[in-house]
Amino acid sequence: FGREVEYHEVIDSTNIRARRLAEEGASSGTLVVSDCQSAGRGRRGRAWVSPSGKNIFMSLILRPDILPASASMITLVAALAVYDGIKDVTGLNAGIKWPNDIVANGKKLCGILTEMSAELEGIHYVVVGIGINVNMDEFPEEVRQTATSLLLETGEKVRRSRLVAAIMEAFEQYYEEFISQGDLSGLISVYNKHMVNTGKEVKILDRSGDYIGTALGINEKGELLVEVQPGEVRHVISGEVSVRGI
Ligand code: BTN
Repeated sequence: FGREVEYHEVIDSTNIRARRLAEEGASSGTLVVSDCQSAGRGRRGRAWVSPSGKNIFMSLILRPDILPASASMITLVAALAVYDGIKDVTGLNAGIKWPNDIVANGKKLCGILTEMSAELEGIHYVVVGIGINVNMDEFPEEVRQTATSLLLETGEKVRRSRLVAAIMEAFEQYYEEFISQGDLSGLISVYNKHMVNTGKEVKILDRSGDYIGTALGINEKGELLVEVQPGEVRHVISGEVSVRGI
């Protein structure tokens, strides 16, 4: 993974570029990296702050032989890899906020946007877009309360190429485990260990009604298990809800 790399100084969005490359037949493992993005996108149609010279913006093309319904699990695999890469390169023990944000002291260091093209029988391709706030020392007003960077958390600048390589290496191992099982069963315990929500009270913002409970951990599908009262555990599916610590 990441052995075939397409590098840009500037691009609209590495996810858009990776999807185009995938449509043109790029092989699984191809990585698109850009120094900055003019139209970086986050989840829920939000913009992703993408200035030049400081952060990591990259998108990985994958062609897994799994059912489309399993594709969202890849985002959790990527979150694990980013966690490991950060730990290896900076020593920072960040946390994973379910399903796929990497946080430090309650603020976001990294976001992941997974997109796929699927046919009825299977997946055509998946693009995993990863944005990491690395050497940024100031954020725009609108995200100042919620975003942080590795520089702000550790006081040290990080060589971005080293971090990209460490994440790709970790991803390759976790992805192999995921593909060999067909689900996250081999990764549940490591994921729960790094998930900041584990054992904590969470508020689930659900369209059909908000509720509060204790996050127990994820299951093999990557769903968050939330105990709402003794013996009653709800399965929370990513993408449908928003989780808040309380
Ligand atoms: C989120 O909202 O948390 C997801 C943010 C994902 C941002 C990354 S940066 C690289 C890739 N290209 C994009 O346009 N978005 C993703």
